[in-house]
Amino acid sequence: MVLFAPMSFSFLSSANARPVALLTGAAGGIGTCLTSRLVAAGYHVLALSRKGDTPAQAHVSALACDLTHPAQSEAIFTALKADGVSIRVLVHCAGVITPQRMGACDTAYVSTQLAVNLEAPIFLTMQALALMPRGGRIVFVNSMAALVPLEGSSIYTASKFGLRGFALSLAQDVRSRGISVSSVFPGAVDTPMLHREMENGGSVLNFVTPPATADDIAQIVEKLIKRPRLEVFCPSADGVLAQFMLMMPRVWRLILPILLKKGLKGKKKYLDKKSKCGF
Ligand SMILES: NC(=O)c1ccc[n+]([C@@H]2O[C@H](COP(=O)([O-])OP(=O)(O)OC[C@H]3O[C@@H](n4cnc5c(N)ncnc54)[C@H](OP(=O)(O)O)[C@@H]3O)[C@@H](O)[C@H]2O)c1
Repeated sequence: MVLFAPMSFSFLSSANARPVALLTGAAGGIGTCLTSRLVAAGYHVLALSRKGDTPAQAHVSALACDLTHPAQSEAIFTALKADGVSIRVLVHCAGVITPQRMGACDTAYVSTQLAVNLEAPIFLTMQALALMPRGGRIVFVNSMAALVPLEGSSIYTASKFGLRGFALSLAQDVRSRGISVSSVFPGAVDTPMLHREMENGGSVLNFVTPPATADDIAQIVEKLIKRPRLEVFCPSADGVLAQFMLMMPRVWRLILPILLKKGLKGKKKYLDKKSKCGF
C-alpha cells in the first residue's frame, strides 16, 4: 500500500501494535533485504523510497518520499507525531553515487549526492529524535568511501566522510537518552548501485575484495539493532587497513598502485562471473 499525504498512522500507536522501524532506501538492494529481516524480527516497517514502490507485504507501509525534497519527509513526521507514533529504529540506507571527475562535474549531481547521502540523514535524525523513546536505535549504512578517498567520486566520498563525523558526534549527543548510534561501512555490495557505478566509471578499488551480498549487509544492520556497536566494517580486514591508511595519507599514496592492480583483477573476475550468469 502506497501512502500519500494526508497519512494516517493511528494503527501504529495502539497498545498491541508492533514497534516501528523507519527505513530509507527501502526499495534498493540492501533496503529490500533489510525490510524482510525487520518484519521477521517483529517490526512494522515504514519503508521510504522515491516512488513508494517497496514490494507489498504484511507489516510494511510503503511511503513515497524523495529525500532531495525535505518537505516530503517533514509531512511524514508531522503525521506520525499527530498519531502519537514512536519510532524505535531508524535506518538510513538511501544513497546515491554519480562518478564524475572534479573539473567535469555537473553541479546538479553535487547537490543531489550531498542531499541524499548527508543532509537527509541529518534532517531525518533530527525529526525522528522527537519521536524516539529510550532504547531507540539509529543505524547509518555508510561506505568504505568514508575512509578510502575514491578517485572520480569525490562528492560521494565527501558525503560519506561527513556522515561518519555526524554519526560519531550524534552518538555522544544521545547517549544520555539511552539511544544508540551505529554505522556499517561496506566495501562493494552487489546491488543496482554497484552496477550503475561501474557503468559510469566507478573506482576499481570496489573489487580489491569480492563484493558482499545485499543480505550480508542487511544481516549486519539487524545485528546492530539487536546489539549496538559504534562502527562495523565489512570486510573487517579492509576496515582495519583503511583506518590505518587514513591516518597516513602519504602511505596511502604508496600503497594505492598495488590496490588498484588488485582491484582491476578483482573487477575482471567479477565481470567474468556475472557474464556466466547472463548479467
Ligand atoms: N552497493 C554498494 O556497492 C555500496 C557500497 C557501500 C555502501 N553502500 C551504501 O548502501 C546504501 C544502500 O545502497 P544499495 O547498494 O542498496 O543501492 P541501491 O540498490 O541503488 O539503493 C539505493 C536506495 O537509495 C534510494 N534513493 C536514491 N536517491 C533517493 C532520493 N532522492 N530520495 C529517496 N531515496 C533515494 C533509492 O530509492 P529509489 O528506490 O527510489 O530509487 C534506493 O532505494 C547506500 O547508502 C550506499 O551508499 C552501497
